[in-house]
Amino acid sequence: MEVIIRPTDHAAAELIAQIIATELRANPHLVLGLATGRTMESVYRVLVRMHRKEDLDFSLCSTFNLDEYVGLGPGDPHSFRHYMNEHLFRHVNIDRRNTHLPDGRAPDLDAECRNYEAAIARFGGIDLQLLGIGQAGHIGFNEPLSALRSRTRVKSLAPLTLEQNAATFGGEANVPRRAITMGVGTILECRRGLLLATGAEKAEIVAKAVEGPITSMISATALQLHGRCTVVVDEAAASRLEGFEYYRRIFATEPEWEQFRNLQ
Ligand code: F6R
Repeated sequence: MEVIIRPTDHAAAELIAQIIATELRANPHLVLGLATGRTMESVYRVLVRMHRKEDLDFSLCSTFNLDEYVGLGPGDPHSFRHYMNEHLFRHVNIDRRNTHLPDGRAPDLDAECRNYEAAIARFGGIDLQLLGIGQAGHIGFNEPLSALRSRTRVKSLAPLTLEQNAATFGGEANVPRRAITMGVGTILECRRGLLLATGAEKAEIVAKAVEGPITSMISATALQLHGRCTVVVDEAAASRLEGFEYYRRIFATEPEWEQFRNLQ
């Protein structure tokens, strides 16, 4: 795992988008794992800008989202399919047939989960997986006690997750109780992981996820087992990290990051 600290949330999102763009340019057939949520909105804004102004080409890439609420169809404004359409897909030249999210209204949810895993495998696995982190430490909707080897399945949402998403749904009572999510094991199979966390409210969970012991209570700690995972944080989200100065030096001195150093 490596941690990259950027001064602001804007700079952190810009770096994430630049990493995605670099990988997409190197491999136009990239299989991209996507996340939703407030943190990702600025990443998608930058990617849309890059498509418009720098010809970033999405025409050959494929995407798999981490999760979808059970019971919500694509037409529902709270569904993650709707979120993806609004924040990214309708603004870039992606072929919608190559964009995948679990179907939260599938009549047989277990079959839907198995089919989702099979589809990821058919596309050759995920090259680059974008991740956010919930305040309870989930990646995707892998709530506390998610097995570190779990696969795509239906998960019951934790109280803190319901609370975190209450505003979007106009009250906690309206938040769906369950979601289909890629499992921790599914996520760990990606070739590269890229986690973005911004804001002081994520500082404590970021410190636990990055520097704490691996535990199924905090599914993001499983990323410590991944051979190539980059965690990008702004200074606010990095504020509880013991290795703050060390991580900062890595971005400032390691050759891999040279091309990204003068981003705003
Ligand atoms: C969403 C997802 C979640 C979010 C996390 C952070 O697809 O997988 O794990 O990334 O809940 O959400 P925000 O960015 O709204 O704080």
